[in-house]
Amino acid sequence: MARELAVIGAGLMGSGIAQVAAQAGWRVTVVDTTEEALRRGVQGVQASWAKFVEKGKLTQDEAAAALERITTSTELDAVAHADIVVEAVFEQVEVKRELFRTLDGLVKDTTVLASNTSAIPITKLAAATRNPERVVGTHFFSPVPLMSLCELVRGLKTSDETLATAREFAESTGKTCIVVERDVAGFVTTRLISALVVEAVKLYEAGVASAEDIDLACKLGFGHAMGPLATADLTGVDILKHATENIYAESRDEKFAPPELMRRMVDAGDFGRKTGRGFYAY
Ligand code: NAI
Repeated sequence: MARELAVIGAGLMGSGIAQVAAQAGWRVTVVDTTEEALRRGVQGVQASWAKFVEKGKLTQDEAAAALERITTSTELDAVAHADIVVEAVFEQVEVKRELFRTLDGLVKDTTVLASNTSAIPITKLAAATRNPERVVGTHFFSPVPLMSLCELVRGLKTSDETLATAREFAESTGKTCIVVERDVAGFVTTRLISALVVEAVKLYEAGVASAEDIDLACKLGFGHAMGPLATADLTGVDILKHATENIYAESRDEKFAPPELMRRMVDAGDFGRKTGRGFYAY
């Protein structure tokens, strides 16, 4: 089985993916544009492992061995030996397309190129390569070490073999996969959460109920771990607006049009937890 992984982007998701893969025995090369980003990413992984060790879920030796399997680089050609490359850079289609174009020329013919995008159709990224059948979506969830889902996305030309390799990789890290067989913007998960958040914002904006009560309705009525407005604050109102806008642009489905309040909150810089104010004050 393939055992060499490269992760592009050492941010929240890339470092999390590197972490679970290294723990599962993969040799992982993490690439980012600056040493500073790589240092922050690896520190995040170490801090997370320290918590697992504290809770008795991992031994110090296992954490140390996993850390040894991670190497970092600011040079993209460090991916040359990878069996799978997972891209986790900014959610911007042009940045990702450019990266896929470059990766296509650097990796082995058999290497699978995966994207962690949460909403961009995989076919758009695959089209930047000469081998679109080896491109696939592997959408992990945050925080990666704790969330057990990986949403696999088949682009228009993704081969069965590529999908099988992606599944094998995700399952080796302990994740359970769902498969998105038709490459729609937002896939299954981002469409569902976007529809729920947009409706929650509309209810709140119309004064139908308080933010607390809308969230309580989902938590106590539907068993959700977190209400949609608290989720928006955690994920970032700006990020969700961007995602719903993309889904709306692709699907032309009115229900994904970002509500006025959501647009004004982004104008005002009320992005949620990271700015201290969103639907709640922090
Ligand atoms: P982030 O902003 O934390 O990290 C992105 C990293 O990519 C940064 O360290 C940046 O320096 C690096 N980067 C940007 N361009 C690069 C390039 N050309 N080459 C190498 N490195 C580059 O972003 P985050 O949150 O980790 O998201 C990454 C991807 O995962 C996005 O596509 C996002 O939509 C997706 N995603 C995010 C989730 C979240 O909860 N944050 C959940 C699921 C998916």
